[in-house]
Parts: sequence; structure tokens; C-alpha cells
Amino acid sequence: MGILFFETESWEENYLRSKLGVIAAQVFFTHEKLNSDHSFENRSVEAISVFVGSQVDKTVLDQFPELKFLTTRSTGYDHIDLEECHRRNIIVATVPTYGENTVAEHAFGLLLSLSHKIYEGFNRIRETGTFSCEGLQGFDLKGKTLGVVGTGHIGRHVIRMAKGFEMEVIAYDPKPDQQYAAEAGFHYVSFSDLLSLSDVLTIHVPYIQATHHLINKGNIYTMKKGAVLINTSRGPIVETEALVEALTKGHLGGAGLDVLEEEGAARDERAFALYGHPSEAALKTALQNHVLFDLPNVIITPHNAFNTREALQRILDTTIENIKAFQSGMPKNTV
Ligand code: NAI
Repeated sequence: MGILFFETESWEENYLRSKLGVIAAQVFFTHEKLNSDHSFENRSVEAISVFVGSQVDKTVLDQFPELKFLTTRSTGYDHIDLEECHRRNIIVATVPTYGENTVAEHAFGLLLSLSHKIYEGFNRIRETGTFSCEGLQGFDLKGKTLGVVGTGHIGRHVIRMAKGFEMEVIAYDPKPDQQYAAEAGFHYVSFSDLLSLSDVLTIHVPYIQATHHLINKGNIYTMKKGAVLINTSRGPIVETEALVEALTKGHLGGAGLDVLEEEGAARDERAFALYGHPSEAALKTALQNHVLFDLPNVIITPHNAFNTREALQRILDTTIENIKAFQSGMPKNTV
């Protein structure tokens, strides 16, 4: 079987080669994304693996007439025309989980940076050479109430870590798991109570229609005054305008964000401004993101919460399992 991997780095290539040697007759790698104008010549492979930068649509599928298996190295698969794959009997597999502790650790990284003003302290020393803690007073996590929105894979790791910091934990999930809550030592409350009772609110829900602007102008002021918001899920779950306003008016005490609305614009603003024909709403959000970038009580990372050596290795290991399962005729992690 010939397998073609798109969007791989050299360390991934080495790892995959070492594991796939006996499985595949031919393994090919390219840094390129798979889209309609990729330059890879060999079109006779039976299996392809992509990451989230690829766009696997009908035109792309037409280029690989012998394709039988597509395995994405991600949980989401909105970059793949699933219906078209199914129509062509191409099996599609994903990596259902890989980073629950990883993202939870990042959420605490953002929170601790804010609670101990670590980044401001670091900047002061680096930029001014002043070894002074004046104005850098933070707050303890111990005894504070952490509100967890979404008690799935990541939310549960966050709860476990919060217990280590001796925080009080409350949570909201439309599908509460009361047995787990009793075992883990937290309790579920209504969403409105979660907002009004939490000193720190951390979001761990998928981005779906129901979670679009879950935190918005209508409810952000029901959050506790001085509360800190952490978002490592997806940008549009929080209405940027509401967040900017609540922070600049001093209602919220801070925000730690790994995700933004309009991440594309933040990544490549030149292209966005010159060629993107952005909508007025998208431009406004991009400008509001800049206000967030400049606020001293906001820390932002570039959608990097998943990006650890171990999480990426788990992605590769599951991808290898997916390929082996496909070869054995018992495909797994299919969608
Ligand atoms: P999961 O599917 O295990 O858990 C999601 C939980 O959210 C479920 O318990 C579900 O019932 C709950 N939920 C659904 N709608 C809700 C609502 N309206 N209010 C409250 N809870 C709701 O997902 P997991 O693995 O914990 O991941 C959560 C999200 O984290 C992912 O959907 C993804 O967007 C994000 N993520 C971010 C990464 C990053 O690098 N920043 C990496 C991986 C995931």
C-alpha cells in the first residue's frame, strides 16, 4: 500500500518512517498542504494523511482515483468533504482525543501567568532591567472558585488540576455527569450561577451553533466583578466586543486566551487587509483583537495549547493505529 503524508515536519517524517516501514510498501512525505494546486506527482496512492491546513474537496479527490483511506491527524474534520468521501467509498479516520491534559495544562499556564503577573514581571526585567515587584501584586488560586464550562475530556483534567491548587470547583454542562462530580468533588450549577459565582471561568466546550457567543454582551456583566476568563476552546465562543468592553470598563479582572475570533486575520493581516475583501464585522473583530493584544491584564497565545511533543506524538501514534486498523480490514476512529 502507498501512503502519502501531507503537512509533515522532518521529526514527524522520521518517526512515521520508523513505525511504518513494515506496513507500507511506499511512504511519501511532503510539507505541502493538500489542496487543489499541490505539486505532488504520484497520484496512485491508496492512503493519504492530512492535517487541518489541507482542504480535501471534490477536486482534490478527483486527483487520487485509487484513494481508499484518508486519515486526518486532528479531531475535527471540517476540512474534509466527508459526504463526497463516503460517496466514493473512501474511509475517513480521525484522532478523537490526544490533548486533554495538554490543553488543561495550557489553561492553567494562562491563569497562573495572570494570577502572578508573571508576564508583566518578565517584561519589566527584560525591557527595563528593573528588579522591582512594585505593582505586580497578584492573587492566590487557593480558595478561589473555578467555574468550568464543559466537563468533557479537557474540562475533567482542568478540574483535577484545580483540586491540586485547592480551588473550589463548580461546573456547567448540558449533559452533567453527577457520579463523576461526586467522585471528583465538585458540583454542577446552572449556567447563570456559574457566571455569577466564579472567580475564574474557563471554557472547554466545542464550537457549535449553540455555543456561538456563549459569553456575550447580554451576560458578561453577570460575571463576578474582577473575574478572570480563560478560553482555550474556540474564539467565537466569546463575543470579542463584549470581552473588550468588560475588560476596558474594569468589570473583568483579566483574560487568558489561546483562541480568537478571526484567527486567520491575526495570522496574516497583510493578506487579510490587501486581498481578503474582509467583511465589516471581520475587520471590526480584527481591530478589537488588537485592543486585547495591548491590554496589560490579557495574555494571548496563538492557538498553541495542543502543541506539545507528547500530544503531537499521541496524534502520530493514533494515526499509525488508524492505518494498521484499515490494513487489517477493521478500520477504527472512522467518521
Ligand atoms: P469533549 O467533547 O470531550 O467535551 C466537551 C463538553 O462540552 C461535553 O461534556 C459537552 O457536553 C459540553 N458541552 C457541549 N455544549 C455545551 C454548552 N453549551 N455548555 C456547556 N457545555 C457544553 O471535548 P474536549 O476534548 O474536552 O475539547 C473541548 C474543546 O477544546 C474542543 O471542542 C476544541 O474546540 C477545544 N480544543 C482546543 C485546543 C487548542 O489547541 N486550543 C486543542 C484541542 C481542543
